[in-house]
Amino acid sequence: YGYDLLVVGSANADLVIDVERRPAAGETVLGGDLAVHPGGKGANQAVAAARLGARTALLARVGDDAHGRLLLDSLRAAGADTVGVLVGGAPTGVALITVDPGGDNSIVVSPGANARLMPADIGAAVSLFLASRVVSAQLEIPLETVVEVVRNLAEDSRFVLNPSPPRPLPTEVLAACDPLIVNEHEARVILGDACVSEEPADWARLLLAKGPRSVVVTLGAQGALVCDASGVTRVPSVKAEAVDTTGAGDAFTAALAWKLGGGSSLAEAAAYAARVGAAAVTKRGAQESYPTAAEVEAR
Ligand code: RIB
Ligand code: NA
Repeated sequence: YGYDLLVVGSANADLVIDVERRPAAGETVLGGDLAVHPGGKGANQAVAAARLGARTALLARVGDDAHGRLLLDSLRAAGADTVGVLVGGAPTGVALITVDPGGDNSIVVSPGANARLMPADIGAAVSLFLASRVVSAQLEIPLETVVEVVRNLAEDSRFVLNPSPPRPLPTEVLAACDPLIVNEHEARVILGDACVSEEPADWARLLLAKGPRSVVVTLGAQGALVCDASGVTRVPSVKAEAVDTTGAGDAFTAALAWKLGGGSSLAEAAAYAARVGAAAVTKRGAQESYPTAAEVEAR
């Protein structure tokens, strides 16, 4: 394989303002200075994996504009291959992000060029799929495009999906996931009417029954649950002083996907991913906060 990880997904410019609290409807609040960071769940995953040392490519679309160049620069600086980053057709995606004093964020995404990453763009990149051991995706691109991703997977490659922002998924996509990685909110949306329990371990089992080969439920300070045919295993959380949690989940997913490709068990990969995610929350921004493998070891 030429790539340990092919990420198919979004690239956004993150426009971030620190706030004391979020405005209610009709209200104005004053915040801190504007910061512009490279982000987007797809580009974040690609940068996170590349920083850890994975041979990584991103398949995405950005606009022919300053935000697009910011993203390409960040990917290249991390060592990710940008051969699959298409340029033009709409403005680069933008995420308007507020961060509160606890480090938690709320995000509004304008998909822009991400919405123009079409199924035909996937078919045209088949050589990237053939060269990649693991392929990962999220849901800031059209769902038809994600369907085309699972149809183009190489025979023995592995597919990892973080369905964020969540929506109900076709059986064909669910069946390809190994694992499906969800937080509590995403678990509830994907289960829909089948969410008949308040127990995260039950969500993991119920999600597995929908077809994925494995499931990971992330639970913040409670760690994560990993679930496959052999049952549910709890992976403890890693303590960290949270400054900005933006993109920490993307770093978790990328680290997990990379470790799985290297032969780690799901529980081992999730334990390592928790360490990477913990490092990411201690610094501002998404991509700029991702650790190298040496930094993960040193923590
Ligand atoms: O997961 C974090 C990311 O979500 C941010 O970088 C923002 O761009 C949104 O896509
Ligand atoms: Na961060």
